[in-house]
Amino acid sequence: MRAVTTRSLVRPEIERLAGYVPGEQPRDRRYVKLNTNENPHPPSPRVLEAIRAAVTGDLRLYPDPLATELRAKAAAVYGLSPDFILAGNGSDELLAIVLRACAGQGDRVVYPQPTYSLYDTLVAIQGATTVAIPFPEDYRLPADRLGEQGQALTIVCNPNAPSGTLAPTAAIEEIARGVRGLVVVDEAYVDFASDTALRLVERHENVLVLRTFSKSFSLCGMRIGLAFGQPALLAQLAKVKDSYNVSRLGLAAAAAALDDYGWMEANAARVRSTRSVLAAGLQGLGFQVLPSEANFVLARRPGEDMAVVQRQLRERGVLVRYFDVPGLRDALRITVGTPEEIDVLLEALGRV
Ligand SMILES: Cc1ncc(COP(=O)(O)O)c(C=O)c1O
Repeated sequence: MRAVTTRSLVRPEIERLAGYVPGEQPRDRRYVKLNTNENPHPPSPRVLEAIRAAVTGDLRLYPDPLATELRAKAAAVYGLSPDFILAGNGSDELLAIVLRACAGQGDRVVYPQPTYSLYDTLVAIQGATTVAIPFPEDYRLPADRLGEQGQALTIVCNPNAPSGTLAPTAAIEEIARGVRGLVVVDEAYVDFASDTALRLVERHENVLVLRTFSKSFSLCGMRIGLAFGQPALLAQLAKVKDSYNVSRLGLAAAAAALDDYGWMEANAARVRSTRSVLAAGLQGLGFQVLPSEANFVLARRPGEDMAVVQRQLRERGVLVRYFDVPGLRDALRITVGTPEEIDVLLEALGRV
């Protein structure tokens, strides 16, 4: 059929939007997949048992809209009351909820860049304005430039993606003290790091900390995240979430993952140890590697475009992430895989 109209059926903000492009998820399982920061180790067997039980449970019924049991478990694990916790369908959904609730047309949203590029998309969807503060070369948090400038929202990804670098909690607290709006700390990778801003939510009504089960708990496929903040703030955010935002399987999986917290910690320790091997191997091949506190490293060859290296690695069966944006074209972000996968990567890199 011939298209008969060119009129737009969506808001101009959406029309203009390029849309977020996630990393490649190939169907071919033979790739060594080091491109989307998944955990190379499996989730706890207790999680799989809980999912099986949930499957044979009553899927006919909606899940608990308040994620009561999961929040109670998380409260015990993280030492906060359950009303400081909101569950989401991955931390991506929690980010979308925050943007929907806090950033309206023309509002300013401040964050250092380069960072997780989904923030740009979510800001644009709202018709809000990104105020990008460039990271210096060493990715130290430019805290003095993130302070009050009339913004509705400040976002700090910590550890930052794609650099892997960690900013001190004191610097984030200083920002929270100085700004009127909300400060979101995206801690997707914090279980691989040496510090967390979680305790700030007890002292500051304008701090929200986001966590995910995707990375350290090896549950990307289940889509579960948690937001930590003061009850009055979470009550506002809850108004704009889907009623049944976390599925029965997701709720069961996350609760069981918290029951086996030691499993996650052991995997995180393995990832940290392999991360050192990866960083040393990359340095041996002439890359500059930023100190990473996440489950990936940013490897850089200043001034050289890494697009061709990424393609050649792909041809050799290894997927890594290349960002075609200013400031990152001379870098590759490489997820910490198993020791065997890192051997394959380093060997392939040595050849290309
Ligand atoms: C910084 C950061 N925040 C949030 C997410 C999203 O995590 P989730 O799987 O919980 O939606 C990612 C995923 O890669 C991430 O890198």
